[in-house]
Amino acid sequence: MNGEVYQMSDLIARDVLDAFHEKPAILAVIGCPVGHSASPAMHQPALDACGISGRYIKLEVPVGRVMEALQHLNELGFVGANVTVPHKFAALDACHQVDEAARQIGAVNTIRFVDGEIHGWNTDGPGFARAIEEEFQTSLAGLRVMIVGAGGGAGQAIATQCAIDGAQRVILVNRTVEKIDTLVQVLGRRFPATQFHSIALNDPQLCGVAKQCQLMVNTSSLGLRPDDPSPLSATCFARHQWVYDTIYKPPLTSFLRDAIKQGAEVANGFSMLLHQGVLAYNIWYPKQAPLEIMRSGLRSVS
Ligand code: ATR
Repeated sequence: MNGEVYQMSDLIARDVLDAFHEKPAILAVIGCPVGHSASPAMHQPALDACGISGRYIKLEVPVGRVMEALQHLNELGFVGANVTVPHKFAALDACHQVDEAARQIGAVNTIRFVDGEIHGWNTDGPGFARAIEEEFQTSLAGLRVMIVGAGGGAGQAIATQCAIDGAQRVILVNRTVEKIDTLVQVLGRRFPATQFHSIALNDPQLCGVAKQCQLMVNTSSLGLRPDDPSPLSATCFARHQWVYDTIYKPPLTSFLRDAIKQGAEVANGFSMLLHQGVLAYNIWYPKQAPLEIMRSGLRSVS
């Protein structure tokens, strides 16, 4: 299920793509690298449970060839695709139509082929909002949120989603603060109802500002290796906070461990990965995503 990785050269014809398989490939995750993707473990059981005869495959696409890959998939009659790192920004440019959230986030992670056209969505931001609802029983509306490591794609998607959903204040934190200044300005102009601020990770005022936030989110890549330290000092956390790490492997990062020690309620990125997938599936097959089947599929590989 979580098996082979296809290459661009496999897209030349159906015979090649579907050789030795009973079911045709109809959905793909496009990335580089893509071998580690957990998406097939969620989507293949969902297709099977819905009685849809098709395969969800992993497709490695080199940087600069996303549009070409999507055009091939379209011609081969695919239903759609997921797009992952590093192609989410280029995928937006390849689309004939893009939904409002994806345009505001500036990146596309879900594609559906509609009457020969490439249509794009972004389910990362909405998936995060659903994850927060499921984990902490709260919406983002009115919240004071701190996003740590906001210089990457996940930080941008989550910051934008917080504004779309009416957060009161969003503090973006980064090691290299210059990298987020433009994002803060752009979001501040676009969403005047939400206050945006940037602050450097080594700013002595950081912990004071953090303690005024209700929701703390790690979107940095620090924590992916089991021996990684937390990007934040443990004293930045407080008992009243909800603390979410977008990393799900390992399940308990130093960021979450420190938060637990301070008495905060914590959750990891498993729920965001699940819900962005559920939303993507519902774009391909409206209202059909089997949530619990997708949850257990994902659990089997994470
Ligand atoms: P993407 O999500 O687009 O792949 P990334 O390059 O993995 O992005 O980086 C994600 C975030 O992790 C960035 O905010 C990055 O901080 P910088 O912009 O300052 O590079 C942050 N990050 C990565 N390693 C870090 C570290 N050792 N300490 C603090 N932040 C770090």
